[in-house]
Amino acid sequence: MKILAIETSCDESAIAILEATGDDKSARYKVLGNALVSQIDLHRQYGGVFPALAKREHAKNLTPILENALTQAQLFVPSPQTLTNEQETKLAQILEREQELYSALSAFLPKLKRPDIDAIAVTYGPGLEPALWVGINLARALSYIWNIPIVPINHMEGHLLSSVAKKEGETLIIENVQLPLLALLISGGHTELVVMNKWLSYQLLGETRDDAVGEAFDKVARMMDLPYPGGPEISKLAETHRTEFPDGIPRYKLPKPMFDTEDCDFSFSGLKTSILYLLKETGTLTSTEKAELARAFEDTVSEVLWKKTARAIEQSNAQSLVVGGGVSANTHIQRVFTERIQQTYPQVTLTIPPRELSTDNAVMIGLAGFFRAKQGEYRSEVIAVGNLPLAA
Ligand code: KG4
Ligand code: ZN
Repeated sequence: MKILAIETSCDESAIAILEATGDDKSARYKVLGNALVSQIDLHRQYGGVFPALAKREHAKNLTPILENALTQAQLFVPSPQTLTNEQETKLAQILEREQELYSALSAFLPKLKRPDIDAIAVTYGPGLEPALWVGINLARALSYIWNIPIVPINHMEGHLLSSVAKKEGETLIIENVQLPLLALLISGGHTELVVMNKWLSYQLLGETRDDAVGEAFDKVARMMDLPYPGGPEISKLAETHRTEFPDGIPRYKLPKPMFDTEDCDFSFSGLKTSILYLLKETGTLTSTEKAELARAFEDTVSEVLWKKTARAIEQSNAQSLVVGGGVSANTHIQRVFTERIQQTYPQVTLTIPPRELSTDNAVMIGLAGFFRAKQGEYRSEVIAVGNLPLAA
């Protein structure tokens, strides 16, 4: 099955084309095309992601990305044709709110033959609704013109599945996943512990009561005058400090909110606020102090994440653990989890996706798309759901 996957939930516009074979027990994916444009540099100027700006950028980026992905997959077969009046009208209707996408797409589509694609997988949540709609409307437009069915995909399921996929050359493989599988999903908008007891059926064990971890990284970075996105910046600083002072313990003592509560929930806003007060009291920090604070913050976050994850492992009797979402790219969190699993739960298999799969991308949407398409989850109507849960 050939799947065209679209991801526009936040600040990455991405399209991938995957050829998938197998079933739930063992699936293999060949990535035929993978094109992505990150808007990070643009949003950086504003210190965060602005939904209206993200929407406009997606509308501008998607057609060139589509062409690129189809070309990589050798599915761009030039064949001049004209859209019928009816097609023109319908396309204009579907892309009514994405004028820029409409102009580019209506110029692009008459250039090529219908590509050999069986399903269009598109992220419909969670994420920024204006941004999600651009991807959804592209999916609807292509679905209409090429007569290809749509499978709507939960972005977090994409993160989760990309965390269990193994890479062999250009092939991604999902097999031998030992259930129950516990997933710690940590991104800019999410922090949750979800268990998969049955294949693709989820139960929520815990989540953040306030800020997401990535959000905390970004906000703390901002307070420290570091550029957006703050996660990688804090991580870089903290790692420099660890290299320079391997035995040094940061002098900053930060609170660990909800560390001892008898649940799997998180809270990060108190930690963030304590850093705000600390910065107010101390004034400008030297570069060493900054690095030390970054390290203290990262240490605290890692401890909290581990403590609640360990509790969730016990509670769910998990056989596998995956850490997914943008924050899972964090070197220190990876180190803490790898060490602790070996020490405490050697029977649990831990997987953390490689960097290119841990940040937002469309390949992960295609991974989920295959399983969902196999289950026949095609939809003629798709709407964006900003706060779509993975599990209730
Ligand atoms: O999953 P993702 O790419 O987008 C969302 O769906 O949110 O996650 C983005 C988040 C941002 O908050 C970013 O600061 C954080 O992931 N992040 C990191 C690192 N790389 C990205 N946080 C900590 N350490 C990193 N190395
Ligand atoms: Zn994400």
